[in-house]
Amino acid sequence: MPKALLLENIHPFAAQSLRDHGFEVTSLKGALGEDELIEALDGMDMVGVRSKTNVTKAVLDARPNLTAIGCFCIGTNQVDLTHAAKRGIAVFNAPYSNTRSVVELVISDIVCLMRRIPAHTHHMKHGLWDKSAQGSHEVRGKTLGIVGYGNIGSQLSVLAEAMGMHVVFYDLEEKLALGNARRMASLNDLLQISDAVTLHVDGRKSNTGFFGEEQFSQMKQNAIFINLSRGFVADLDSLKQHLSSGHLSGAAVDVFPTEPKKSGEPFDTPLASEDNMILTPHIGGSTLEAQESIGHFVSKRLEDYWFKGSTALSVNMPVLTLPACSSAARIGHLHANLPGVLARVNQVLGKDSINITAQSLATDGDLGYVVTDVDQKPTAQILKELETIEGTVRMRVLH
Ligand code: NAI
Repeated sequence: MPKALLLENIHPFAAQSLRDHGFEVTSLKGALGEDELIEALDGMDMVGVRSKTNVTKAVLDARPNLTAIGCFCIGTNQVDLTHAAKRGIAVFNAPYSNTRSVVELVISDIVCLMRRIPAHTHHMKHGLWDKSAQGSHEVRGKTLGIVGYGNIGSQLSVLAEAMGMHVVFYDLEEKLALGNARRMASLNDLLQISDAVTLHVDGRKSNTGFFGEEQFSQMKQNAIFINLSRGFVADLDSLKQHLSSGHLSGAAVDVFPTEPKKSGEPFDTPLASEDNMILTPHIGGSTLEAQESIGHFVSKRLEDYWFKGSTALSVNMPVLTLPACSSAARIGHLHANLPGVLARVNQVLGKDSINITAQSLATDGDLGYVVTDVDQKPTAQILKELETIEGTVRMRVLH
């Protein structure tokens, strides 16, 4: 029976799904430090972590029999991906499971800022009845400028249009414009016509501080600014100046250059004194629905890898999407991406007159991955020969 260890309070759906598929599952509420993790992984085939458990080189070296790591979150920085690949350990995550949650929060931020809800709430809490339409707008007919038209940006585009907004976007890459959205040739073109500008770029290094004084000053008078992407992409001091001067009419910020490590820790930002300002503690993707969806998505990836050898959506393996095996056995062979390894695999299988019923190969960087379905169970001798082919990283009989 395969064994899985799930840490950090992963949604119970994951444990249930793995158990339903025959795994013995141990679930722990908290994260584990390096030594504790090594200890807890004794005899485990798979581990599920969220953002607080670091799966380091030392952990991977101490537990080389680990088959896969599930990151039940979006990021994978907590895992040494390169070393995991060298050890033949596949890593999976859930890149899209909280997209909808982020999009819904952005929509609500746009509506709230355009109606000056944070400012009204502040006044009401301080005993001031300020019934006025001054500065309040419908979103219908306004232009939303989306910077970064990836998973989140493009889904936001669809929902914003459904509310009657005109959508323009700017992306470094050529992207299919959904609905009536219009691609802008430059960021400046977008900034000059948008009533709301929202950032949904990824965390590549070159995006550090990419939205600063120059970009804020290009924005329309009374426009609003939203950032739910990464804390290091926007210059918050510039944002504050443009809010204080009355150039921008409001902002929503969910991500910050420095964020506390744990819930309950103190937090301070100069933006707190701004009137029409929504501040949220990096909760754009944090909903119970997203957690459940992540639990579902990642456990399915782990099951597919264990039973079918599918590496679809793995972040560190050559990608093969495979159907269930209907032959006598399936052999997964992960190897250094060198000429001749596939030929050697077939040569070894051919020795015992084993007939190959299906075979798929994918290579990526230093690794090659070949999955072979055969018409008879290979003998222990054949498996040993496959395992000792030069360049072999890992060999698994899956079925
Ligand atoms: P994605 O990778 O699907 O899309 C990013 C897009 O931005 C790509 O199309 C890329 O070409 C484009 N891009 C990158 N740099 C750019 C630049 N300088 N100018 C214009 N376009 C640029 O990413 P996804 O899934 O849409 O996520 C977007 C961001 O949202 C990420 O930074 C992610 O970390 C963050 N995020 C935040 C959450 C929260 O809780 N606040 C939750 C989930 C994601």
